[in-house]
Amino acid sequence: MTATASIHGISLAYTDAGRGTSVVLLHGFPLDRSMWDAQVEALAPRFRVIVPDQRGFGESPAPPGPLSMDRLADDVAALLDHLRLRRAVVCGLSMGGYVAFAFARRHADRLQGLVFCDTKAVADSPEARTGRAEMIELVAAKGLEPIAGRMLPRLLAPATLQRRPEVAELVRRMILRAPPDGVRGALQGMADRPDSTPLLPTLRCPALFVVGAQDALSPPEEAGGMCARVPNGRLVVVPDAGHLAPMESPAAVNAALAEFLGGLA
Ligand code: MLT
Repeated sequence: MTATASIHGISLAYTDAGRGTSVVLLHGFPLDRSMWDAQVEALAPRFRVIVPDQRGFGESPAPPGPLSMDRLADDVAALLDHLRLRRAVVCGLSMGGYVAFAFARRHADRLQGLVFCDTKAVADSPEARTGRAEMIELVAAKGLEPIAGRMLPRLLAPATLQRRPEVAELVRRMILRAPPDGVRGALQGMADRPDSTPLLPTLRCPALFVVGAQDALSPPEEAGGMCARVPNGRLVVVPDAGHLAPMESPAAVNAALAEFLGGLA
């Protein structure tokens, strides 16, 4: 079911499918909830899968200005309130993972589990912040086309680019239709996010780390390092996938998610 919820001054669009243990899937940047289509299809027969377009992306609008990870995390908590759900598993990919960290900081008692896909705990380096500022200028001057050109080769594994051009095309189209205000706001919000590394040993719920073996942006070593710091963590490295493992190797990611969610019930 596709629906909208009135949340903190905007109409947040989301998909809500299935029944059972609830999992919220948070998309990466600059994408939208359709990046999780294969997971909704595979998981909804056994679990309740809730997938918002985070504000500023897809069908969820946002006023111009910085989009902090805290704001996006509070939207998730408000969406759970709207759905009358006390607790859920929160699963975020890359920027969605930064939001999952913010959620863990601000709403820990609402977590049944955490899944971090192709993401990292550390804050931006000074060079990364400079890169974000350049991208904000680029989007203002030229729109999303140069962003798609710059990001696609880094988002996908070489094998995906060569053998699955349809996945590359889906991602390219998703980037091109991203609302420029949301893109600029999220770039600023990501640049401003804090280091979440100190949070890792304090996480009390089970945590799953899923990473593409060829993720060039948040490599497996990064995920392994995070997993080693949490009290109850598991690591799954997905062969032949890059930064968008759920789109590049859906079967492997679906299996890892189903096993994790099934173990929580
Ligand atoms: C993402 O996939 O969400 C981005 O790579 C996150 C980032 O730019 O840090």
